[in-house]
Amino acid sequence: MATPAHDTATPSPLGAAPARNLRGRVRVPGDKSMSHRALMLGAITVGATEVTGLLEGDDVLATARSLAAMGATIERTGPGAWRVHGRGVAGLAEPDDVLDLGNAGTGARLMLGIAAQHPFTAFFTGDASLRRRPMGRVATPLRAMGARIVARAGDRLPLAITGAAEPLPIAYRLPVPSAQIKSAILLAALAAPGATSVIEPEPTRDHTERMLRHFGAEVNVTIEADGARRVTLIGQPELRPARLVVPGDPSSAAFPLVAALITPGSAVTVDGVGINPLRTGLLETLRAMGAGITLENTRDEGGEPVADLVARSSALRGVEVPAARAPSMIDEYPVLAVAAACATGTTVMHGLAELKVKESDRLAAIVAGLRANGVEAEAGADSLTVVGTGAPPAGGGTVITHFDHRIAMAFLVLGLAARCAARVDDTRAIATSFPDFVPLMTGLGATFA
Ligand code: S3P
Repeated sequence: MATPAHDTATPSPLGAAPARNLRGRVRVPGDKSMSHRALMLGAITVGATEVTGLLEGDDVLATARSLAAMGATIERTGPGAWRVHGRGVAGLAEPDDVLDLGNAGTGARLMLGIAAQHPFTAFFTGDASLRRRPMGRVATPLRAMGARIVARAGDRLPLAITGAAEPLPIAYRLPVPSAQIKSAILLAALAAPGATSVIEPEPTRDHTERMLRHFGAEVNVTIEADGARRVTLIGQPELRPARLVVPGDPSSAAFPLVAALITPGSAVTVDGVGINPLRTGLLETLRAMGAGITLENTRDEGGEPVADLVARSSALRGVEVPAARAPSMIDEYPVLAVAAACATGTTVMHGLAELKVKESDRLAAIVAGLRANGVEAEAGADSLTVVGTGAPPAGGGTVITHFDHRIAMAFLVLGLAARCAARVDDTRAIATSFPDFVPLMTGLGATFA
């Protein structure tokens, strides 16, 4: 299989010039979490699943290729419109080559759950970033369900997985708040007899649970004596093909919205954004900072709440962000740090240990990027402090993105609000989640060069 382009091709640097008056109404690409899950559930359901609003980014396309390599038929019927002809739970075929999930942690970890349904061997790899990320967090529960997994030191990719002929149902308490671990277990458990439970002390995004119900599986949630959520799936369900509408990704909407808040004279509307309460920690935090963000036209689409979000230039103030909020905004800290750099006062964010094992060590990348642009910032063991002076950040720095899409987009947004242009060393990773980020922002009035 060919090496992913970004492992070999040359970097693509870009600068963002100071901006004013960002204005307009846009749509952001479909939710990345839901897009991966839509293709996967379609692939293990007999019949045709129709998906609209699918994110056509590199991460999701890598999942589509992997599922196709396991015998699902996946076709694009129009922009964002895809049809999946699936083969049933535990009905996929042994892939005849290594599955390359590119940059996608969600793709890799959830596909391991799918592979664990099957008694054949599948080989997984990814790009340099994904090969550094921990897979033990899913390998441990999948081994408890009967899968055999042979991996590099530290349970890292490349690895080989052989699922059990019939996975064992388990009850598993998540050691870290992670929707990816929860989802890998639930996907594997579809092939197990009886009830499998995942106990999560801190709630994480519940797209897998919602989507499984949409396909006809029985998933129940109860609250334990200590307040933890117990998510229980009844295995071996008869999944029915479904129609899925993927809403705009709140993690992508965050970039134009924060850009509007921190550049003078701006008013931006992002239409059709998912506002699942387990994803809205950033909105809550920005509002506490004094952000003028309003929700319009709130509605329900395919089992998920959706709204149009409007953001206007706002005077932000520093806040304390509690650790308990981290799972509901785990991907938004890079752009929140940029908002904090433009606020008056200090912002302290707690509970950020997981940021160190994202597409890059985001805690370190954020601090380095802020300092390169004249912003005082410091990382603790699992916290981040950003000092906002109330004046625009100096800018003028070049940010090392470590092939991390959200670091690249966050610091291009910083450049829009800075006194001097800010640069990022490489924008190629943006294609993993938000391929049209640069043209979309340019349409709102931003200038990149
Ligand atoms: C995701 C869960 C989160 C998030 C990632 C997408 C998902 O990761 O950071 O971008 O789709 O389940 P963790 O489960 O590792 O927290």
